[in-house]
Parts: sequence; C-alpha cells; structure tokens
Amino acid sequence: MSDAVPTQARAPRLGEHLDQIRAGLHLDATGAAWLSELASFPLPVTPLVLPGPRRSAEILERLACPPEAVADAVATLPGPERDPERFFLLERCRARLLAGMGQPGLARGAWPQLPKSLGVPGGCFYLHLVLALFEDVRAEHRRLGVPDDVSWATLADLGRHVAIQRASTGRTGVDEPWWMTLHLRAILIEVGRLQYSTFRLGEGPESPLPWYDDAAAERLGEGLRPGDATLGIHIPAGEPLSPAACAQSLARAGELSAAIWPVATRRVATCCSWLLDDQLAGMLGPSSNIVAFQQRFVLVPGAVEGDHDVRTFVFRSMAPLDQLSATTSLQRAVLTHLRAGGHFLRRTGWVALDEEA
Ligand SMILES: CC(C)(COP(=O)(O)OP(=O)(O)OC[C@H]1O[C@@H](n2cnc3c(N)ncnc32)[C@H](O)[C@@H]1OP(=O)(O)O)[C@@H](O)C(=O)NCCC(=O)NCCS
Repeated sequence: MSDAVPTQARAPRLGEHLDQIRAGLHLDATGAAWLSELASFPLPVTPLVLPGPRRSAEILERLACPPEAVADAVATLPGPERDPERFFLLERCRARLLAGMGQPGLARGAWPQLPKSLGVPGGCFYLHLVLALFEDVRAEHRRLGVPDDVSWATLADLGRHVAIQRASTGRTGVDEPWWMTLHLRAILIEVGRLQYSTFRLGEGPESPLPWYDDAAAERLGEGLRPGDATLGIHIPAGEPLSPAACAQSLARAGELSAAIWPVATRRVATCCSWLLDDQLAGMLGPSSNIVAFQQRFVLVPGAVEGDHDVRTFVFRSMAPLDQLSATTSLQRAVLTHLRAGGHFLRRTGWVALDEEA
C-alpha cells in the first residue's frame, strides 16, 4: 500500500483533549457522552493506518459505492495532523469495533450520524470507518474461513446503503451506521441473495422481537430457547427475491455458518421483517416472491408495529400519504391499506436449517 498514511508512534496531541474534540465535531451533550465512552477503550496494538487516496478509491469502488460518494470520501480522508478530531473519532470507533470483533450485542444507538453541520467530511465518516477496518475485517474473514466471494459481497453492502442515503438525502453517507458494524465485526455475511448474522436468542439488539415466551420456547425445544445459537436472515434491497435464489442461499449459508461460526447446535434461522406480515399475502398475486418467501417460515405469535418499516422499504419516504404515488402493485396495495386506516406489522418467523441444507 504505497500511498498509505502512516500514523504510528504518536505522542499525545493537544487536539486529543476531549472538550476540544467534542467542539471540533459539533457534538451535543449526548454526543459528548458517546465520545467519553469511546475514549475509554484502549487503542489496539495495531495502529490505524488509513489507505491512501488511490487505494481508498479502489476499495470503495469495489464495494459498489456510487462515484460521487467515492469522490467525496477520498477528498475528505482524515489525517491525524490535518483533521485531529475526525481522526481521533475514527481511531476510537475502530478500537471499539476491534474489541467487539466476532461479538454481537453492540447497541444500535452507539453509532449516531455526525452532525449535519460538519458537511461532507462528517457525512463520509462511516465510509472512512469501513476503510479504517477494511484490512482488519478482511483478515478476520480469512481467519474464519469466509470464502473470498462472500467476503467481498458482504462488505459491498456498504455501496447499497450509501446509495440509499444519497437517494434519500442527496448527500454522501450511510443510511443506518449501526447496520454496517455487524459486517465490520464479522458477525454478518452475505451469501447469494440473503444475508445472515450470528447471535443467540434473547441476547442483544440482533435478537428478533417478538419471540416466544420462555415457556413456549422450552416446549418447542433446543434451537428455539433463550440463549440458543441461531442465524438471523436479512433481505437486502435489490434483485427480485426469487425462490430459487433464496433456496440456494439458505443451503450454502447452512454449510458455511457451521464452518465459520461453529457451535454445538444451531437448529433454526430466524427472520424479523415487514416482509413476513401475513396481510401481504392477500394483497399480492400468487406469483409474488414475497408471498413465496413467507411460506418458508413458521410465524411466531405476536407482532410489532410495522408502518414505519413499510414506508421505509416500499416508498423510502415518510411524506404524507396523499403525496405518495404508486407504480408497483405492492405500492398500490400499501397506499390503499394505509389510506383506509389500516396498519402493517413486523413479524418474526423461523425456518429449520436442516430442511434447507
Ligand atoms: C424483497 C424484495 C426484493 C421483494 O421484491 P420482489 O421479488 O419484486 O417481490 P414480489 O414478487 O412479491 O413483488 C410483487 C410486486 O410488488 C412490487 N414490490 C416488491 N417489493 C417492493 C418494494 N420494496 N417497493 C416497491 N414495490 C415492491 C414488485 O415490483 C411487484 O410489482 P408488480 O406486480 O407491479 O410488478 C423487495 O421488497 C425489496 O427490495 N425490499 C427492500 C429490502 C427489504 O425490505 N428488506 C427487509 C428489511 S426488514
């Protein structure tokens, strides 16, 4: 990496004073608490060495980031002397993620967007964080035995989320920063059409809600009880959700997860999504991929309100209903339902892994 920016053997800098850093990052009181917590993590033995501009552009392009976003991120790469506050934050977020490598359980709220007043450099922060951990997570993938195509496909989710953020705000950024920390901790992989995360039921923000109460889970047996190892299934936006692509993905993921995240028993994979709202079956035609996807799952009783998810994933807009227009059959059905005062649900389902192998 000939154009890397070396940052080794730094003496403490004046700019590392937390108050100064907080002010430089325009952080409010909540942000200041976040900064203090991050600052309590010791820096890792391997210092942060950001790829240089040329290598950064190569990586971001391969991770499917739109060209405007690549240009923004490369133009605002922070350096320890040039941008001590952003560099400090980057070092500390990397330290936090390296300490959590392989571990679920990091709170969603611990990865806030930086204030808009920081402009393009602040918007690019989470792209820079992916660059900061790129070599670490690639090394972890190699150590775990994640195949190279899966490793690249996994990290290329960045491009999807940068494109979503650009489409909804017109600015470079990552729409849901916490989400990318799963990839950066090597606890989520993308296998063909679907993504999979590793976690234990009932533990941490990765665990699905609703889930069975303890007595019902106990009756259902091993694999579905609190603390049992499972996989979370996630559906990235993109190509149609064809049943064949899902079957292929589930079969490969069953084998891969056993090899890279070995546990004594992992019986099921779970999914928690608006896509499992069984009202959709009455709204979409018999050839619907969403309906076919639903049919794979045993639904867990109960639901969480899902209007926000449906608005996010079907319209990418929270505008008043009379300002939304529909071009697909799902959009038409969703608008009709919401305008009639109906609501959508987020449901949890599970599928037995041995049936998918
Ligand atoms: C999952 C997904 C790929 C399914 O799309 P699909 O394979 O086309 O699904 P279906 O075959 O059931 O689609 C039936 C109809 O609904 C439309 N449709 C499906 N998902 C749609 C979406 N998210 N937004 C708008 N229209 C959608 C289809 O275009 C099709 O319309 P048509 O009948 O006018 O041709 C799609 O919903 C998507 O990209 N979602 C975003 C990611 C997501 O929601 N993940 C889960 C997060 S919890």
